[in-house]
Amino acid sequence: MRMIDLIEKKRDGKTLSTAEIEWFIRAYTADEVTDYQVAALLMAITIRGMDRRETVDLTLAMARSGDELDLHDVAPLVVDKHSSGGVGDKTTLAVQPLVAACGVPVGKMSGRGLGSSGGTLDKMESIRGWHFEMPIEQFKKQLGEIGLVLAGQTAVLAPADKKLYSLRDVTGTVASVPLIAGSIMSKKLAAGADAMVLDVKTGSGAFMPTVEAARELAQVMVDIGTDAGRKVVALISDMNQPLGHAVGNALEVKEAIETLQGGGPADFWAHCLEVAGHMLLLAGKADSLDGAKELVTAVRQNGTAFEKFRQMVAAQGGDVAQVDDPGLLPQAKFVEPILAPRGGTIAAVATGEIGWAAVRLGGGRFVKTDQIDHAVGFVLPAKIGDSFAEGDVLGTVHTNDEAKLAQAREELLAALTWSYDPVPPQPHFHGTIS
Ligand code: URA
Repeated sequence: MRMIDLIEKKRDGKTLSTAEIEWFIRAYTADEVTDYQVAALLMAITIRGMDRRETVDLTLAMARSGDELDLHDVAPLVVDKHSSGGVGDKTTLAVQPLVAACGVPVGKMSGRGLGSSGGTLDKMESIRGWHFEMPIEQFKKQLGEIGLVLAGQTAVLAPADKKLYSLRDVTGTVASVPLIAGSIMSKKLAAGADAMVLDVKTGSGAFMPTVEAARELAQVMVDIGTDAGRKVVALISDMNQPLGHAVGNALEVKEAIETLQGGGPADFWAHCLEVAGHMLLLAGKADSLDGAKELVTAVRQNGTAFEKFRQMVAAQGGDVAQVDDPGLLPQAKFVEPILAPRGGTIAAVATGEIGWAAVRLGGGRFVKTDQIDHAVGFVLPAKIGDSFAEGDVLGTVHTNDEAKLAQAREELLAALTWSYDPVPPQPHFHGTIS
């Protein structure tokens, strides 16, 4: 087979056969085809789409591109979660330990940043020494011993996604239902989760801008998971403004730690409670969502969830002193307030633009080889529906490059739409698909 034939077929709106999809994934994983040809095919898929059969074939080929874990010898039932990506989305950092502290093992494979959306691995690497590359034996050992692992797309688990993910990040091919569904579900299937909660974001900071598009993506992923014999619930959650206050790697780690210790922003905690509650429900730990949320609240209050996070950081080589004192995490040299340019109420937020502004500060990548500056980003407590007088502090910008301060401030302010009239707060969720 030849890549050029697949590219032209998809460019012309035709469907790829199972054999063609399997060949392309195998050949790319084995470095037998070039990045530029794969990028062209990804763009054709992004524009032309894939039908249900092609999407399932793509997902299964990616899941089978490396080892597939069977975790049942160390954990009878493994629950996982995954987000379709958003700005300020540090949910995994808090939810994983909350669920593990309730006695449900969580073994998770996460990703790096993608486009304007941050990545769990980049965030966690703010902690000195923390690493996510590990042999499967260690993944299993850690899961058995502390019930909590946060790994990456290593060379052995879903390696096809690892390569495609970083190529999509820099070729404008992120916002595609089959590519997102394939990416997320291949990791979930390969990592051996029996049950999973999919956090599908919608809004100005999500890859799926409308609730309808998010429902479509959620339904495709629930179908793939169900076909593969897994229990799947998808939550459609709002991403019309950053989740919580912090946008930027170390800033988000700090916010997740504060949340595990009983503080943190209210919207972020409400989000964690919902996701963790559904994970416990899937694991059979509670009879109702309310009952599950009570368990989650209890492990936050009694400190066991925070302790789980510490254990995971220590097991993966991280400096626990930075967890105990987040003031030791990377700090930006320049921290400046962002003032309201006028009085009024925030009516809308161009959330993706805030994500890109954080990338421009150095918090994400424009090309695969870009190095991340973990200290930079924004803290923005201002939410849709909040009112301010001119000159009030809306948030702060954090940078190591003084020359970037003014531009970052301007970009953040340009992302806000103001109203003189009252504006209702945004809902956190737009429904559930199971
Ligand atoms: N998260 C993933 O793992 N993959 C995507 O494509 C988007 C979000």
